[in-house]
Amino acid sequence: MPELINTTTSNLNIKNIQLLTKKYQSPFWVYDANIIRNKIKLLKQFDIIRFAQKACSNTHILKLMKKNNLKVDAVSLGEIERALFAGFKKNSNEIIFTADLFDEETLSKIIEYNIPVNAGSLDMLKQLGSISSGHHVWLRINPKFGYGHSKKTNTGGENSKHGIWDPRLALPIIKKYKLKLIGLHMHIGSGVNYEHLKKVCHAMVESVVQINKKIKFISAGGGLPIPYKFDEKPININKYFTLWDEARKKISQFLNKPIQLEIEPGRFLVAESGILVSQVRTIKKMGNKNFVLVDAGFNDLMRPTMYGSYHHISILPKDNREIEVNKTIDTVIGGPLCESGDIFTQEEGGNIQTRKLPSIKIGDYLIFHDTGAYGASMSSNYNTRPLIQEILIENNTFKVIRKRQTIKELLSLEE
Ligand code: LLP
Repeated sequence: MPELINTTTSNLNIKNIQLLTKKYQSPFWVYDANIIRNKIKLLKQFDIIRFAQKACSNTHILKLMKKNNLKVDAVSLGEIERALFAGFKKNSNEIIFTADLFDEETLSKIIEYNIPVNAGSLDMLKQLGSISSGHHVWLRINPKFGYGHSKKTNTGGENSKHGIWDPRLALPIIKKYKLKLIGLHMHIGSGVNYEHLKKVCHAMVESVVQINKKIKFISAGGGLPIPYKFDEKPININKYFTLWDEARKKISQFLNKPIQLEIEPGRFLVAESGILVSQVRTIKKMGNKNFVLVDAGFNDLMRPTMYGSYHHISILPKDNREIEVNKTIDTVIGGPLCESGDIFTQEEGGNIQTRKLPSIKIGDYLIFHDTGAYGASMSSNYNTRPLIQEILIENNTFKVIRKRQTIKELLSLEE
């Protein structure tokens, strides 16, 4: 369905993309700020929305989140520094550090900045407690089962490295170092369904009963899915909230105090706000297969190669010709990297797939949709390819929110 670039309701429309291709060298990322704000509104029922910035950590996006009263999650010192740069405050719960380990540098900065820690291991509690008595901590609990759109994004169960298996073992450590336990957190994976969700909510209540400590917060983690394909339905947020709210009420009753309910989405807030614009540079036949190669590679958009993820692809013809949508060709879309896996149409495990696309010409632009989450933030310099531009559309103006890296900048690290 290549014609389905939105023509009216969103800023990611044909007119804007055409303007951008005239102004900027492809490939580049584009985000629509309005879409992000609309997604934020959908989560208003939660007491705290904490943006999992790993999905899209550009500081301009973080500033937008801050302006809309969100808090932020950081999983590295780099993400903490990004959050501070964007205006989130130290000595508060605006930033929470979530991880399964500390490196020395990160640990000392977390203590200096006084940032609460969501601990995914008992060692973290010991290492933090031994030098920062009284520090505010959460426990990230592995509920002993998980779920995810790919094995690689499942964050619960025996095969996951994430979280604390038996939270009761954390209690003597918390006591010994006088740490302040303020919350419990569970994130079982990305792309969660309601059945799993019920189990997680139940597991959260069980954990609180097991631990029996006067916490202030519970966090539902992230994992809210978005419809990447046209036949997938958007998640019912009311249903999602209701399940968690019921868990919150039970916990509140058990502890006899109010409990704040946090949610920590990444993908849900930003995926649909972003696209990757690339240009077709080569078209060739390999036996019976028709390959169309664009100037963006898996170093830019990693998800199809890493997980076999599907991204809708639409065509923007360079010469304004009418696209014949009813006449399609089975097409493989790939990039420029010197690696066979640099294919955007593949399933998990690496089998090549084809997409039914109309006739494509050299110079046409291919748009990869729903790439606002885990797009730019997962890019690399593989094949010595510089990071590409990020552009934000805000009130119908285009703003470059990340410049294209130069090869000189890239090489300067090795001087
Ligand atoms: N909270 C924690 C502790 C997490 O580990 C994650 C994601 C999130 C929140 C946000 O999850 P989300 O709402 O975005 O599903 N690169 C993969 C996703 C990896 C997610 C890792 N943790 C992808 O492209 O699908």
